[in-house]
Amino acid sequence: MNANLDAYWMPFTANRQFKNNPRMLASAEGMYYVTPDGRRVLDATSGLWCCNAGHGRKEIAGAIARQAAEMDYAPSYQMGHPLAFELAERLAELTPGDLNHVFFTNSGSEAIDTAMKLALAYHHSRGEARGLFVGREKGYHGTGFGGMSVGGMPNNKKQFGKGVPAVHLPHTMRPDMRFSRGLPDQGAELADALDSIVAEHGAENIAAVVVEPVPGSAGVIIPPRNYLRRLRDNCDKHGLLLIFDEVITGFGRLGSTFAGYEFDVVPDIMTIAKGVTNGAVPMGAAIASGQIHDSIVSGPDQIELFHGYTYSGHPLAAAAAMATLDVYRDEAVFDNVRSLRDTFEDCAHELTNCRNVIDIRNYGFMAAVELAPDAEAPGRRGMEVLNKCFFDEDLMVRMSADIIAIAPPLVINEEQIRHVFKTLGNVINTVD
Ligand SMILES: Cc1ncc(COP(=O)(O)O)c(C=O)c1O
Repeated sequence: MNANLDAYWMPFTANRQFKNNPRMLASAEGMYYVTPDGRRVLDATSGLWCCNAGHGRKEIAGAIARQAAEMDYAPSYQMGHPLAFELAERLAELTPGDLNHVFFTNSGSEAIDTAMKLALAYHHSRGEARGLFVGREKGYHGTGFGGMSVGGMPNNKKQFGKGVPAVHLPHTMRPDMRFSRGLPDQGAELADALDSIVAEHGAENIAAVVVEPVPGSAGVIIPPRNYLRRLRDNCDKHGLLLIFDEVITGFGRLGSTFAGYEFDVVPDIMTIAKGVTNGAVPMGAAIASGQIHDSIVSGPDQIELFHGYTYSGHPLAAAAAMATLDVYRDEAVFDNVRSLRDTFEDCAHELTNCRNVIDIRNYGFMAAVELAPDAEAPGRRGMEVLNKCFFDEDLMVRMSADIIAIAPPLVINEEQIRHVFKTLGNVINTVD
């Protein structure tokens, strides 16, 4: 590789560290990335939780190429193109309850900021001025000002000022839940913290409650059994909107198409991104209920919502998404999660006695192996595991400080699942 690495300012990356020892990927097919020097690296993270159907899908690449040749771009304001409407209709059919109105964005961050603006606009349409959001500690909702604020990761906020008004529910990780297999049996009452937030701030000031059904980025935090149902009930009790951020949990990660089905809870607005195009073209969406849509889209026949993006419903993204949904359906990709998630869970928990392991969490095809941080250098162990896996074992895992996350493409087979966890366990045992 000849490029000087200085110019590219990498996101969420220790730039100087990376550029001293770059981890480069040059091509990808199926379950594997290929490095510039030709090593095949097993992808245990679906890229960045995106490539649910595996890499290099010809059907998706073909659909993008055909669309690029037919029509590269159509304005998203005041003009339309049929594919975006077809895709919206298809997504509306897939989503739970009456989440039937799809507002396209280009990323998960834009999706969550859009969802928050829909909540604000909904209250505005009803003559209410509710401006406070309730997020959750350790939540991740991208990096726009809305998502950053409602998110609960202090490092993501401390450089950026005050943001949007938000308060936070407690996260759902407690010492007594460590090493739970799947959903922890205890802890549903953590959802009742909403009562004290309402008592302190007033339901009439709260625009929405925003959570990931299963938080991914902070290290795969599994909701206690019945927690999400209780949160929904508490929102209803106080007349609050509930937003599910399904950017990671959407499109089969847990075994169902969406977490809303998996946990039998329908939010008022949900967000998607990542897996909607299998990661091949950026796309996201906020999907709202009929009640929210109809309340905003009312009044005089003029622009109802002063919000949107040049690339909302971009033709290439729409083509990629249609082809992706075909692959998911035709190959019953999500069934593979349901068939293998018990094996996945067993394999993850085989690492219980590995060196420095203090917790293992899992659900569907998501797992985290948490290491005790080195008191002198938090994050060192996680980084060493990542590097050893990548450079020595041809395995790509994800780390968030000392938490190793595993979230493979949903087309992974049993042998590969066993290989991922066995390799990870061996590597962890070499890190002091
Ligand atoms: C739950 C959740 N919401 C939002 C986002 C932000 O998505 P993007 O990086 O596409 O803006 C992410 C990204 O990981 C996410 O996990």
